[in-house]
Amino acid sequence: LMQTLLKNSNEPPVVFHWFPIIGSTITYGMDPPRFFVENREKYGDVFTFVLLGRKTTVCLGPAGNDFVLNGKIRDVNAEEIYTVLTTPVFGRDVVYDCPNSKLMEQKKFMKIALTTEAFRQYVPIISDEVTSYFKRTADFKGQSGEVSIPPKMAEITIFTASHALQGKAIRDQFDESLAALYHDLDMGFSPINFTFHWAPLPWNNRRDHAQRTVAKLYMDTIQRRRANPETDAQDMMFHLMNSTYKNGVRVPDHEIAHMMIALLMAGQHSSSSTSSWIMLLLASRPDVMEALYQEQISALGADLPPLQYEDLAKLPLHGAIVKETLRLHAPIHSIMRAVKQPLHVPGTKYVIPTNHVLMSAPGVSASDPVYFPKPDLWDPFRWLPDSPNAPTLSRASASEEEEKIDYGYGLVSKGAASPYLPFGAGRHRCIGEQFANVQLQTIIVEVVRLFKFRNVDGSNKVIGTDYASLFSRPLEPAVIHWERREKA
Ligand code: HEM
Repeated sequence: LMQTLLKNSNEPPVVFHWFPIIGSTITYGMDPPRFFVENREKYGDVFTFVLLGRKTTVCLGPAGNDFVLNGKIRDVNAEEIYTVLTTPVFGRDVVYDCPNSKLMEQKKFMKIALTTEAFRQYVPIISDEVTSYFKRTADFKGQSGEVSIPPKMAEITIFTASHALQGKAIRDQFDESLAALYHDLDMGFSPINFTFHWAPLPWNNRRDHAQRTVAKLYMDTIQRRRANPETDAQDMMFHLMNSTYKNGVRVPDHEIAHMMIALLMAGQHSSSSTSSWIMLLLASRPDVMEALYQEQISALGADLPPLQYEDLAKLPLHGAIVKETLRLHAPIHSIMRAVKQPLHVPGTKYVIPTNHVLMSAPGVSASDPVYFPKPDLWDPFRWLPDSPNAPTLSRASASEEEEKIDYGYGLVSKGAASPYLPFGAGRHRCIGEQFANVQLQTIIVEVVRLFKFRNVDGSNKVIGTDYASLFSRPLEPAVIHWERREKA
């Protein structure tokens, strides 16, 4: 007994709860950021809560971000947590259904299609998809109107991402069967599937059928392309088809197909949520939308020529919009790891035992007044020179100058003790950051050229957040008023 007591005295404080299994599941699930901030006040940066019967220990602040996201492979493990959700959706032998060393190689292969050279081709593709979407979509006919914007941004995201990353042939199928299949795949990502991923529930059967059908479509495409190499485009599929693991094995077709699904799914939720927030925030601040239009005119000329990749660097306010929106509305609010051996939390007396799940929530430090003056204010200008609301820690803005490390998929910052990490850090860090930036900034450029947005009641209000799915997003309906800049 003494031993147990001694051991437990080193465990982090546990958030008070009435019922053993439910624990804090409801209060956490309704509003995770609020749950974190309220309990940080009571217990400090490191505390444990019960989530669906599992003791979950969250480590907040820049030090906590570094501790979890930069955890050593012998200490923490992502695939043990995520595989029940992701493997039925992506398919076998990729991402979390393989050893971490294999994922690091797969991330390297996928990154080859995400270079500057590739982005030069993607920008006109994305621009065209956005403009043609607004031309053909019934809700945007006429001079002005009202529309719930998130479903529209979800469509724009899938059309732009699939066309850029998967080629025109696959993109065209999204007008027909593929959109419905991806919708069924999506059902696999509902949080309830953390518990019931195995159950013969109707949506799980549809998920499995959709996974097989989509994978087959990609595999058939691969076969066709292998048969006609001379007409092949150098896109994501091409690069994966020509990749070989360190052990000499060429990436098998089913793995290419499953990586294609994983890439589209990884990008879809995060980018679509972020672009929806951007549009809603612009509707709440028509003055900022006007500033974007003026930035384009002074940087690119009054005739606003077709956008090119190089132009994006000339539009710092457009970049700051993405950065500031992700500061307040990062779609991934909780990142989880399994604990592989008892972990001492540096600078504390706490030891986290192996039966806990470790959690990181970088969004908490990203809205902490210690690092960001007026943290709740959406102020894109804080990322531009001479702003009174500039991040107060140099680490918050100058992470590019840090020491770098390669986990096998290219160089990333070695330290993760930053208050601003919407794309994660360490071996699991996002490889889609640049693509997301290119995609989101291009969408902003085209929308600003076409429209003026405002809230329906003309106020500065912003809608609340829906935390019911794994990726947070705006509550719906989220209706804005749009008006064309030019006569239709
Ligand atoms: C990983 C955020 C867009 C592909 C991650 C992680 C975060 C993140 C926080 C780390 C997860 C963890 O540590 O468990 C975002 C945000 C995006 C975005 C905020 C957009 C605004 C994309 C896009 C792609 C992508 C467009 C693909 C083209 C990936 C991949 C991983 C990843 C492959 C690696 C997972 C791993 O190594 O475990 N992302 N992402 N992401 N993301 Fe993104």
